[in-house]
Amino acid sequence: MKKISVILMGCGGVGRQLLQHIVSFRSLHAKMGVHLRVVGVSDSKSLAVPVDVLKEGLDDDLLSEVCSIKSAGSALTTLGALGKGEYRVFNGSESIRETEEIAQLLGKSTGLVVVDCSASSETVEILMKAVDLGCCVVLANKKPLTSTLEHYDKLVLDPRRIRHESTVGAGLPVIASMNRIISSGDPVHSIVGSLSGTLGYVMSELEDGRPLSQVVRAAKTLGYTEPDPRDDLSGMDVARKALILARLLGKRIVMDSIKIESLYPEEMRPGVMTVDDFLQNGIAKLDQNIEERVKRASSNGCVLRYVCMIEGSSVQVGIREVPKDSPLGRLRGSDNIVEIRSRCYKEQPLVIQGAGAGNDTTAAGVLADIIDMQDLFP
Ligand SMILES: NC(=O)c1ccc[n+]([C@@H]2O[C@H](COP(=O)([O-])OP(=O)(O)OC[C@H]3O[C@@H](n4cnc5c(N)ncnc54)[C@H](OP(=O)(O)O)[C@@H]3O)[C@@H](O)[C@H]2O)c1
Ligand SMILES: *[C@@H]1O[C@H](CO)[C@@H](O)[C@H](O)[C@H]1NC(C)=O
Ligand SMILES: *[C@@H]1O[C@H](CO)[C@@H](O)[C@H](O)[C@H]1NC(C)=O
Repeated sequence: MKKISVILMGCGGVGRQLLQHIVSFRSLHAKMGVHLRVVGVSDSKSLAVPVDVLKEGLDDDLLSEVCSIKSAGSALTTLGALGKGEYRVFNGSESIRETEEIAQLLGKSTGLVVVDCSASSETVEILMKAVDLGCCVVLANKKPLTSTLEHYDKLVLDPRRIRHESTVGAGLPVIASMNRIISSGDPVHSIVGSLSGTLGYVMSELEDGRPLSQVVRAAKTLGYTEPDPRDDLSGMDVARKALILARLLGKRIVMDSIKIESLYPEEMRPGVMTVDDFLQNGIAKLDQNIEERVKRASSNGCVLRYVCMIEGSSVQVGIREVPKDSPLGRLRGSDNIVEIRSRCYKEQPLVIQGAGAGNDTTAAGVLADIIDMQDLFP
């Protein structure tokens, strides 16, 4: 049986779902000849590890306990207070040091996958160390890949040791498909995608003639948006995904070189206007302009979509008119979609579409990434 050791950073919605998948798919993995050993789980404050990482992983009961503690909103430190079982809990800077120690111990010997399911920009330092120590890296977190080019280059230095399928379109095989196209020498001419479930929903509702303010309020009530919907409306999350795709195509760019259209103006930004004020008063001021754009698009046989566009040296994120009868134009609801045009996919683009968010699909993407690196393990 191949043993794949894993350290998980972040046990929010995605991280916990990953732990649950690992535990419940044990027999499936056994049939495939692999066993996943979880040798560490961390949240923003602490890290739980088995007493002897060389001998054993955290046991499944403990992993379930971690999930229930975290879904109850408690910190992982509470595990330490329980004081039972064959594990230890480290706090604060000690947990970072311990993670590095485990990377040192396992990275070059039995191998270790460092999985980042946090939403933090602080994990990048640990990831850099882990790469140096010969570890593999799997990311659901976009921030390490959208940091400086120096960080990016180091992360992808050995492409066999990094997977990040869930950073773009959750579990959808966008990165894997692109890697296959790239490695076959098929030059990618353009990528156009709708990569935000929230903005996908908003744009397709606008098409039916509903005002922006109403649609956004409804989206928030349905739980489709971040707690502050402006985090979605700013386009920043889509821009991060665009940057990851552009860098995958070899473009040497940083976040600042991406042209991003925000759906709200500067004077309504967080810090100037509260969320409530924005939703009750601010956003309604944007209704008319959007309504006119929707009508103009419609008279051209088009609909509006919030897309990322990568073509030549240009990377842009914003509202575009797209033909009603194109794959993007037909998109409804919160699905993600990516259209890739290349030499082989010229007249008709390669289209990848489906759920682009959700803890389950995202965690499934992370798990598949881990299993995909099994050949690097003894
Ligand atoms: N949910 C989706 O549909 C989806 C889809 C695609 C990609 N993603 C990405 O997947 C990641 C996780 O998403 P999520 O929804 O699970 O987020 P989340 O619920 O906010 O969970 C984030 C977790 O990371 C922990 N954390 C924060 N800083 C950390 C650090 N420095 N070291 C270790 N752990 C740290 C948090 O700890 P505390 O519990 O102590 O706060 C929390 O447990 C994000 O990067 C997100 O963008 C999510
Ligand atoms: C993901 O998990 C979080 C935390 O458990 C939860 O609040 C959220 O509703 C989940 N999202 C989905 C789409 O299941
Ligand atoms: C970690 O912090 C928790 C709560 O603050 C405390 O109960 C525990 O003793 C600390 N553990 C260590 C190893 O310092």
